[in-house]
Amino acid sequence: MPQIRFILPWATQETHAHPGQSILEVGKAANVPLGHMCGGVCACSTCHIWVRQGADSLPQPEVAELDQLEHAFGLKPHSRLACQALVGEEALEVVLTEESLKAYFSENPDEACKLRDKTKASK
Ligand code: FES
Repeated sequence: MPQIRFILPWATQETHAHPGQSILEVGKAANVPLGHMCGGVCACSTCHIWVRQGADSLPQPEVAELDQLEHAFGLKPHSRLACQALVGEEALEVVLTEESLKAYFSENPDEACKLRDKTKASK
């Protein structure tokens, strides 16, 4: 089971995945705040991530993913849509984009409040 490390602006979350799972599925199961406004059907770009390590182990993006990525902010060479990128056999390091975080907290305002309270408590 490959290890998946999610890099957030305030923390790192690590989990394991089954090959063939989408990065979005892995993130949701681990409570990673990944946006996914279309529900994971390649119809938005709110699950946009940067795959910092292990990108070559992912299947190449299909045309629909590439088309949707054109609408994403901050494109980088290893930009992917988490709902379309399927985990292979290798470990991955995934950076959440600001776009994805904003979408997540927009849909889950209670989570934003919990995070703010947790951040205050740790100061
Ligand atoms: S969740 Fe909408 S494209 Fe991935």
